[in-house]
Amino acid sequence: MVKKLYIKTYGCQMNVYDSARMADTLSPLGYVETSHLDEADMVVINTCHIREKASEKVFSELGRLRKMKSSRQEQENRNMTIAVAGCVAQAEGEEIARRAPWVDLIVGPQAYHTLPQLVSKLDPTSRQAVINTDFPVENKFDFLPEEHTPRGPAAFLSVQEGCDKFCTFCVVPYTRGAEFSRPVKGIMDEAKRLIENGSVELNLLGQNVNAWHGEAEDGQTWSFGRLLYALAELDGLKRIRYTTSHPLDMHDDLFDAHAEIPQLMPYLHLPVQSGSDRILAAMNRRHDRDTYFRIIDRLRDARPNMALSGDFIVGFPGETDRDFADTLNLIDRVNYASAYSFKYSPRPGTPAASHEDQIDEAVKSERLAGLQQLLASQQQMFNHSKLGEVMDILIERPASREGQKAGRSPWMQAVHFSENSGEIGDIIPVKIVAAYQNSLAGERVIT
Ligand code: SAH
Ligand code: SF4
Ligand code: F3S
Repeated sequence: MVKKLYIKTYGCQMNVYDSARMADTLSPLGYVETSHLDEADMVVINTCHIREKASEKVFSELGRLRKMKSSRQEQENRNMTIAVAGCVAQAEGEEIARRAPWVDLIVGPQAYHTLPQLVSKLDPTSRQAVINTDFPVENKFDFLPEEHTPRGPAAFLSVQEGCDKFCTFCVVPYTRGAEFSRPVKGIMDEAKRLIENGSVELNLLGQNVNAWHGEAEDGQTWSFGRLLYALAELDGLKRIRYTTSHPLDMHDDLFDAHAEIPQLMPYLHLPVQSGSDRILAAMNRRHDRDTYFRIIDRLRDARPNMALSGDFIVGFPGETDRDFADTLNLIDRVNYASAYSFKYSPRPGTPAASHEDQIDEAVKSERLAGLQQLLASQQQMFNHSKLGEVMDILIERPASREGQKAGRSPWMQAVHFSENSGEIGDIIPVKIVAAYQNSLAGERVIT
């Protein structure tokens, strides 16, 4: 019997990938994905724990689902299974079970390959959730079924999981567990299948993707750079990206890869978090600002049209006006094409949360506004610098405006152009005719 599955995804790209893999896992049990919550037999919320706001959403979402579940039961005598997955499930599984007894299933990010067993244990009459938040010894990738549906022209592919860096603000090492690199064969097989199913761009994912060092079939350990070279050999793969990288893992062959592999896009998300050496040390980032500048210079030497993106945290405990000024100065020097920035959010169990010198919310807000203004002006300048340029665009989807399609530039910019410019999955030359804060508009160039 066909059952409808609705998945709502919060958080990072790894969660987007995991959601798709959960759907693959549930598909042999007869679950088919739907985009309509009201017809769902099972609802999975795939959660994020990174900041307080993100994890608070889970409980309000669960409150709404409780109402839906009980009205469904009363009016149609039909059950709706509620599952919580992802990083909040991992960090607060017990608390979810206690505070939200209408939740039927709780599964962590390293355990969702066991979904079929967990689903078989479901008992609609029980008020006890079925839980698996183990960090199993086996590797989930060995147990996941093949992709059930095509992933579109630009697909995510997780190659690395977890994190051993333990930045003092961050929950990821606790929610995703220890660093793990998928072996080469599984990655290459998955890449080939994605390409066969129509993907032309692969975005390799990991919390520390450039720390990947995986085992090859002959028992050798490959570096991340070597993996990029191997992927570049695959027929039909036109674009390669990877995210998120840590400055400490920018090894020599990665710069070579950027210089030599044409499919590797000239855009890198390389978070630095702060421009103050004092704060970088307190964050346990294990590098200083000069090291970061040297990396940026080397990347630009390797690929002169390289654009950079980053993540920033303002108001880390103990951050002074001077530290903050150092961050603005770093941003000035790097000149980002885009960036994400956040107010420091104390997370349970992380060392920085118990620092005494927490920063006032008002100060955090003020610093965030200043920093975002600078980043926004850099983004605007970057977008404007592309006016008049002809660039390759991968057509990804119909645009929200009628008569248009949307795609991405090599630098991840969203680009809109007329509907009849080409088919989804094509890479076409587009001349940029307008530049906005967050996107570009273009016209197909007939060659
Ligand atoms: N592995 C990546 C980042 C993963 S989390 C890296 O090392 O760069 C994504 C971003 O969320 C981080 O880069 C950081 O900017 C932000 N972040 C993480 N923990 C945070 C916290 N406690 N408060 C505010 N922002 C946080
Ligand atoms: Fe978190 Fe730091 Fe690991 Fe990134 S490197 S996931 S910020 S602990
Ligand atoms: Fe959030 Fe977990 Fe990703 S905490 S950012 S979903 S790794």
